[in-house]
Amino acid sequence: GRHLLGISDLSTEEITLILDTADAMREVGQREIKKVPALRGRTIVNLFFEPSTRTRTSFEIAEKRLSADTLSLAVSTSSVVKGETLLDTVSNIEAMAPDMLVVRHGSSGACHQLARHCRSRIVNAGDGLHEHPTQALLDAYTMRQHKGRLDGLQVAIVGDLLHSRVLRSNLLLLRKMGATVRVAAPRPLVPIGIEALGATACRTIEEALDGADVVMMLRIQLERMQNNFFPSLREYFLLFGLTAERMALARPDAIVMHPGPMNRGVEIASDVADGPQAVILEQVANGVAVRMAVLYLLGGGSEE
Ligand code: CP
Repeated sequence: GRHLLGISDLSTEEITLILDTADAMREVGQREIKKVPALRGRTIVNLFFEPSTRTRTSFEIAEKRLSADTLSLAVSTSSVVKGETLLDTVSNIEAMAPDMLVVRHGSSGACHQLARHCRSRIVNAGDGLHEHPTQALLDAYTMRQHKGRLDGLQVAIVGDLLHSRVLRSNLLLLRKMGATVRVAAPRPLVPIGIEALGATACRTIEEALDGADVVMMLRIQLERMQNNFFPSLREYFLLFGLTAERMALARPDAIVMHPGPMNRGVEIASDVADGPQAVILEQVANGVAVRMAVLYLLGGGSEE
């Protein structure tokens, strides 16, 4: 397609193509090849209306390694703070003729709306509670790297399921690729209809972790919660936190993942986050290669 709006639009063949292309991109940025000319002459603007460390940085590095001309709008010092709408802001950026826009926004569906109005190719870097497709792709890449496959993998996803676009995109991708997904969270944080998306909802973290190949922890998103969080963060850790003791329920060769940013001592114990089974920083490293693959496939070759 012209854009990357969500995993829901991708076929299994397209997902595999992105992961295979990322394999080739891993070489770029190493000692031998610092950058490639694939996107020379293309202009990419990164528009992050919500905070980001990993996604924004890795898109910027990916763009530079593909030789694109790239800039990031500093939203907090832009005219967005004067009340300019998303569409007006983007129309003005588009008047300067960029080729691609990488967009993170707090509203679910913001990227779809832009795709209907824009000339540029849109890459969704996270829209509200909806999707975060490049995160799911880098997670899948990391799982495939460690486990050799996605088909048949048993994946446990535990944490704030309700507010998680990472969950949604991962669930869509993993089900398409033949993995099994078990989820666990306190009942108020389990979205209605999660089983219709192909997940098995467990009452306890122990049930979700039993025999898992992959354990993915999700951040408690306090900034998206209106009321006081119940149970308290301390109770949450006692009931649903990933500890070394609980990790022993998963397969001995299981990997521990977290999209970041982590709340240490809330959803994950520090010794597990820093332990030998954690691949959390590998996820970040793989994010650059996966985002290079996405940008290259959207804008590097033919116009398809
Ligand atoms: N995983 C992720 O999206 O992190 P950032 O919010 O720091 O980009």
